[in-house]
Amino acid sequence: MPDWELLLTDARIATMRAGAADYGVIEDGAIAISNGKIAWIGPKSGLPDNAAASNRSLDGRWVTPALIDCHTHLIFAGDRSGEFEERLRGASYEDITRAGGGIMSTVRATRDASADALYAAALPRVQALAAEGVGTIEIKSGYGLNIESELKMLSVARQLGEATDVTIRTTLLAAHTVPPEYRHNADGYIDLICNELLPEVVAGNLADAMDAYCESIAFSQEQVARLFERAAALNLPVKLHADQLSDGGGAALAARFDALSADHLEYTSAAGVNAMAEAGAVAVLLPGAFLTLGETQLPPINTLREKNVPIAIASDCNPGTSPICSLRSAMMLATRLFRLTPEECLAGSTRVAARALGLDDRGTLEAGKRADIAIWNISHPRELAYWIGTPQLTTLMLADPL
Ligand code: NIG
Ligand code: FE
Repeated sequence: MPDWELLLTDARIATMRAGAADYGVIEDGAIAISNGKIAWIGPKSGLPDNAAASNRSLDGRWVTPALIDCHTHLIFAGDRSGEFEERLRGASYEDITRAGGGIMSTVRATRDASADALYAAALPRVQALAAEGVGTIEIKSGYGLNIESELKMLSVARQLGEATDVTIRTTLLAAHTVPPEYRHNADGYIDLICNELLPEVVAGNLADAMDAYCESIAFSQEQVARLFERAAALNLPVKLHADQLSDGGGAALAARFDALSADHLEYTSAAGVNAMAEAGAVAVLLPGAFLTLGETQLPPINTLREKNVPIAIASDCNPGTSPICSLRSAMMLATRLFRLTPEECLAGSTRVAARALGLDDRGTLEAGKRADIAIWNISHPRELAYWIGTPQLTTLMLADPL
């Protein structure tokens, strides 16, 4: 006879199972939890008669997988509201970057900040995401751009994971832009990452993946390829900021290295989408950056759909291009700006987002998955991509972090 720790009953469950239509809904459902995992899930009528567990009725509330924000830069110091005003007056992101602002402006502030100060600034951002149902957050480095400051950022990210119930996945993004110390020697900076930083990060288990920014104002395909080769040799999964401002062949490059995901993709060509489809890479779309930069070139949504490239949605929380610390807002923006359906948005911030992080233990509500569960005060799961800034989370239940 099953001996479960907890049995949730009277739930309306959006399981988000792959291949299931209509959110994978189970009406009048029950979920049994043991050892932080879903031990049983299904309609209440199918429960074994002899099941023993402490029973908690959810009074007909909706339940979904805890949300997953698979692309953030939420550790940083300072802000870039001045640049935001400059852009409103007509300056472009590239112009500001070339003049020494942009990412470098946040790098200066972040280098100057202590680990404690970065932690204190980042913790409320993690808490804000958790308060809207997010149970797993990816956090990138990339505002340090030297060994000491990149390690500082990754250590703060690990500390956030230890201090909260939220799972934090960390990503080394040392190749975010060329730091001034290497202004005329970007290849030398790539060497530094490959030969010194990356081995230290891997030895200290400070990163779960590596990312880079492939763009005319950042790194070339050849430079990114060198980084990815080194990451592969160290068994570190890769992902890429690809084709955000121009078609730099980033999507195809990511696919060539079996990247978990290629992110942004506004300027990705059909050939890039094909390469992603063949490699099984996830397309991470970031409507907050699209909105904030006043971008008009849409990512190739229909081609992604036609080729069955899975689409994830993330907040991209950062002070430059996406000052939006809310995955729910990103979901709503993805409906209006990218015409994704609410169901695509919820899949993109649960099942597909898990895949973008290489995590197969979460993102859907199925037997054997982690018991990372969000309980909502809503009348239908489509509402999760409808409201902005509306508190609708009743409870976020998270299994012990990894
Ligand atoms: O995802 N594109 C590069 N990286 C970030 C922006 C970071 C910044 O501007 O500070 C992005 O949009
Ligand atoms: Fe980003």
